[in-house]
Amino acid sequence: MRIKIAPSILSADRTKLNEEVKEIEPCSDLIHVDVMDGKFVPPVTFKASEIKAVKSKLPKDVHLMVQHPIKDGFIGSCSDAGASIITIHEECRDNIDEAFKLIKSRGIKAGISINPPTHLDKINPYIDKVDMVLIMSVNPGYAGQKFMPDVLPKIKELRKLKPNLDIEIDGGINKETVKQAVKAGANVIVAGSSIFGQKDRKKAIEELRAAAK
Ligand code: DX5
Ligand code: ZN
Repeated sequence: MRIKIAPSILSADRTKLNEEVKEIEPCSDLIHVDVMDGKFVPPVTFKASEIKAVKSKLPKDVHLMVQHPIKDGFIGSCSDAGASIITIHEECRDNIDEAFKLIKSRGIKAGISINPPTHLDKINPYIDKVDMVLIMSVNPGYAGQKFMPDVLPKIKELRKLKPNLDIEIDGGINKETVKQAVKAGANVIVAGSSIFGQKDRKKAIEELRAAAK
């Protein structure tokens, strides 16, 4: 499957986000935007207005780490802000099917994510309804954490079930860990600190891509 690189702008310099995005744009496939509500995870990040202010031709891959994607209005505000795909967590507190319906009604793609402790069978009812599955390889909330290889068997199993599905991996991805993730079957690669932590972002992305081959 084609490898897609999705830099997570959580690790970018937020005071000059558009400059940061310009730098990664030519060599990236998606822009990964982490939305956190201070409840599902402790931090609060990326308001819809900030997402809207990001100017890019690349699709915005919005990862909702929130307890109530519907009730708290995140799906509505993020789709208004220009999301191309919205991924919700299986562990959230709203109804998953209703959330997908709402996302689809906005004419955009829908994804589902699971945290490291969550078993793959929890998302069995949804994998035929989504455009992407996001397997978290760290506990969500913060950039710069260590990759958890224990999640690799979930990717392998899912890839066996769904040969053509976009499987995204998020957390602790660098030019070493990306190899394991891709070997297991992931094809959408999120990376924050391993890209924006480098002075030469283009080189960091090229190295990730080369390692993923
Ligand atoms: C973590 C976020 C990730 C994070 C990745 O909760 O969902 O997208 O920004 O950052 P790194 O690549 O540094 O682990
Ligand atoms: Zn994320």
